[in-house]
Amino acid sequence: MKFTVAIDGPAAAGKGTISKAIAANFKFAHLDTGLLYRGVGKKALAYSRTSFYPEISEQLALELTPEDLLSDDLRTDEVAQAASKVAIIPEVRDVLFDFQRNFANQEGGTVLDGRDIGTIICPNADVKLFITASAEVRALRRFKELTKNGHKVSLQDVLNDVLGRDARDRERTVSPLIAAEDAIIIDTSHLSIELAISTAIEAVTVKFKVK
Ligand code: CDP
Repeated sequence: MKFTVAIDGPAAAGKGTISKAIAANFKFAHLDTGLLYRGVGKKALAYSRTSFYPEISEQLALELTPEDLLSDDLRTDEVAQAASKVAIIPEVRDVLFDFQRNFANQEGGTVLDGRDIGTIICPNADVKLFITASAEVRALRRFKELTKNGHKVSLQDVLNDVLGRDARDRERTVSPLIAAEDAIIIDTSHLSIELAISTAIEAVTVKFKVK
């Protein structure tokens, strides 16, 4: 049996929390694809803090190891910005494509979350969810999460990061952030996290039952 759930949406919309809850509920394997881009972004920052060169970023993507994805500081705003800059580079996306496709093709259930899962990585996913929320709500959630984890940031800086990445993710020519035509859109702006999770689980249950 193979069953794939594709989850996309803008920064800090709740994709991560919802994906983990779906994976735990159905005992599916989960891949946070944003971590791959964050891993490359972090390496690119170490190389140069100002310029993101295509050839070098492609090489850094090729050299990405599982250990690179475990480090705590992948979650900072700086790394997020760098991730969205290397994510524009087609060669980087090409390198990461096969890993994501293979993950989705493994036996059993899988959940992948990112920006282009329902459109490019898994266009035939069994369920596609597009999780969104207003930029202000998303910035406030991310601000609380970062502060809780000891990062010193201002709400304004987090909002600027969210808006900057939204623009870059939506306007890039390769794999822009966009809801697949057959995606179920869940706007979590006014939903509690419990309600957002139960709405998503319900949507997956409906498709899983008939499979
Ligand atoms: O957690 P958050 O939603 O803030 O970001 P993330 O999912 O960790 O992704 C970080 C950045 O990686 C995004 O802003 C995108 O530019 C890029 N990304 C992408 O281009 N394609 C994906 N499938 C996942 C992430």
